[in-house]
Amino acid sequence: MEFKHTPVLLNEVIEGLKIKKNGVYLDCTIGGGGHSSEILKRLGKEGFLYGFDRDDMAINASEERLKKYTNKKIIKDNYKNAVTRLKELGVTGVDGILIDLGVSSPQIDLPERGFSILHEGRLDMRMDTSENLTAYDVVNSYSKEKLLKILYEYGQEPNAKKIVEEILSHRPIETTLQLKETIEGAFPKKLLYKRGNVSQQTFQAIRIEVNKELDGLAACLKDLIGFLNPKGRIAVISFHSLEDKIVKEVFREAATDCICPPRTPVCICGHKAIVKLVTRKPIVAGEEELKLNSRSSSAKLRVAERI
Ligand SMILES: C[S@@+](CC[C@H](N)C(=O)[O-])C[C@H]1O[C@@H](n2cnc3c(N)ncnc32)[C@H](O)[C@@H]1O
Repeated sequence: MEFKHTPVLLNEVIEGLKIKKNGVYLDCTIGGGGHSSEILKRLGKEGFLYGFDRDDMAINASEERLKKYTNKKIIKDNYKNAVTRLKELGVTGVDGILIDLGVSSPQIDLPERGFSILHEGRLDMRMDTSENLTAYDVVNSYSKEKLLKILYEYGQEPNAKKIVEEILSHRPIETTLQLKETIEGAFPKKLLYKRGNVSQQTFQAIRIEVNKELDGLAACLKDLIGFLNPKGRIAVISFHSLEDKIVKEVFREAATDCICPPRTPVCICGHKAIVKLVTRKPIVAGEEELKLNSRSSSAKLRVAERI
C-alpha cells in the first residue's frame, strides 16, 4: 500500500532549520519521510538523521522512501522518549529538531484505521496499534463526566452536553459513521448545514484522548530544547490551537530571562533565556500551498534557535 502524505510548509521548515551539512538532525514525527528526505538531501556524509514515529505504517514507509541513505536511523517509539533513546545511543545533542504534530493522511484516509469522518471503519484512532486504548473504548466505556471533559477540553465543542447525551443513549457505537450520525443527532437540522461538519471537533477530541497527544507535550518540548546544540534549531508544526498554545508558551518562556510574576521588584527566579525566537508570529501556508494541499490550512510553524 502506498503511503501518500504531502509534507506541509516544506520550504519553510527547511529554511527554518538552517541545515548544516555535518549536523545531526532529529525528526520526531517522520511519517512518510517527506520532510526527512529534504533534510537528508542537504546533509553530507558526516551529517546524520534520526527519525521517530509510533506508527508501524509510517516506520515502514519512511524506511522504504529513505532506503538509499545510510546516514540515518529510524526508530519506532513515541518522540516523548527521543532524548532518552538518543542518549542511550551515545548522542549528546542535536543541531536541529522537527516536530510535525498531528496525523498523517493515510491515518485519516484509511477506513480501517478508524479515524475517518468520511469512511466507515471500526472506531480505532490509535497511531500506535500496539497500544490498548481505542476510540471504541473511549466512546463506549467512558463516564458521562469524562466524555464531557474531553469534548470541552480537546474538542472545544460548545454543544458537548447534548452530544454526550446522544452518545450515551446510542451505546454501543461500533463504527466511525455510526458515531458521526450520533453526533449529528445532537444538532438541529438547520445548524447541520450552517456549521458544516459538526462531528469534526468531537472526532478530534477522541483522537487526542486515545493518543494522549497533549499529555507531557510541554515537558517534552523543554527536554528537546535542552538537547539542542548551540545555534541548533527547533521547528514545530501544529494543527490546532491547543497544540499551538503549548508550543508558543514553551518557546516564549525558553526565550525569556526572568519569569518572575509581574511586578516582582527584584528577580528571584534566576531564569535565563536559552533560545531566541526565529519566528515571533507563526508561519502559515501561502496561497500556492493552500491550493495544492487543504491540510496545510490549519498548519502553524514556530521556530526557535538555541543560544
Ligand atoms: C503529520 S505526520 C508527519 C508527516 C511527515 N512530516 C512527512 O513529511 O511525511 C505526523 C506523524 O507523527 C506521528 N506521531 C504523532 N504523535 C507521535 C508521537 N507522540 N510519537 C511519535 N510519533 C508520533 C504520527 O504517527 C504521524 O506519522
